[in-house]
Amino acid sequence: MNIGILTGGGDCPGLNAVIRAFTKFALKRGHRVLGFRDGFKGLVENNFMRLTDREVSGIIIRGGTILGTSNIANPFSYMLPPFSPEKPADMSGEVRRIFRKNGLDCLVAIGGDGTQNMAYGLFQMGLPVIGVPKTIDNDLSKTDYTFGYDTALQIVTEAIDRLHTTAESHERAMVIETMGRYAGWIALRSAIAGGGDLVLIPEIEYRDADIVDYVKARRKKGKNFSIIVVAEGARRKGGEFTVSKKVASSTDPLRLGGISYKIADFVEKNVGMEARVVVLGHLQRGGVPTHFDRWLATGFGVKAMDLIEEKKFGYMAALHGQTFTGVSIKSAVGRLKRVDPGSFDVKMALKVGMSFGNKDVE
Ligand code: F6P
Repeated sequence: MNIGILTGGGDCPGLNAVIRAFTKFALKRGHRVLGFRDGFKGLVENNFMRLTDREVSGIIIRGGTILGTSNIANPFSYMLPPFSPEKPADMSGEVRRIFRKNGLDCLVAIGGDGTQNMAYGLFQMGLPVIGVPKTIDNDLSKTDYTFGYDTALQIVTEAIDRLHTTAESHERAMVIETMGRYAGWIALRSAIAGGGDLVLIPEIEYRDADIVDYVKARRKKGKNFSIIVVAEGARRKGGEFTVSKKVASSTDPLRLGGISYKIADFVEKNVGMEARVVVLGHLQRGGVPTHFDRWLATGFGVKAMDLIEEKKFGYMAALHGQTFTGVSIKSAVGRLKRVDPGSFDVKMALKVGMSFGNKDVE
């Protein structure tokens, strides 16, 4: 078979591990692998590289993606030059032509919700597509984990550890902003692991007064510092997202950022405790993948090949418990997997004395 593979959306550690595992297994089975560059842009423009053992050797430890990626290129609403956000074009017909031209028997699309949506769109046109789930946010439905998430947790937890000592020494509130637009998985699990105090996530809107009460109560107990972990998508009850910029051509134009500055200012003014801010940003998406992410990515790569040979087009590799399986892309897209405020994760955080800045969940 001729099999295309691409990486779409934001990069993250583990993408190369999937490309490597998939290619090695596919070559072993006698197939040809075409790596399309820069996500769906490469597919629309027919820009690819032949992947052989040489290209994928030694890349399991490398962050990013050797194929490049794009969180702008959408074949159904293409805004890259010569098109624009004002005049997007439907390039799905071109994709069909490129499938034919290269004799593609299947396309593997590695990416998060946006990429899987596009993959599903191509599948609906009758093109044979397989999905592989990726996102540091871990918010894709129908898989317990996506790779990139564990590495992000490792990075954030280490940052919290380092900031703990300075918070304590200076008797300050340290406000650490993590990624996580619509889901607070990164903030929640890293705050639990790092011994954070307040954790503000998109799923549980905070209340100013409850933040003040909690930090003051800690002070009363002799704890003159607080570690506040805040997801970029956190917001006050009934409030708006803190938007840092809009990328008109992106599938999701909102770029969030800056909520941590608001929280720090608020704590300084209303608690009278000095506060400092660290926005971790894209640090969370870089560097060497953890053991778990390499294992997960390798399993997804191998499972994707299995799904192709079983002709389960329109399916996405997924992890359920310890088992690699396939789920329909349709069932995985469109509804994000978010933190359930009634879940054990939230309860365990509360039971060890953490707060979500909202007394209603306590
Ligand atoms: O979806 C992954 C993610 O890293 C989000 O957590 C974050 O909000 C967004 O991508 C940032 O996008 P960009 O790389 O375009 O700044």
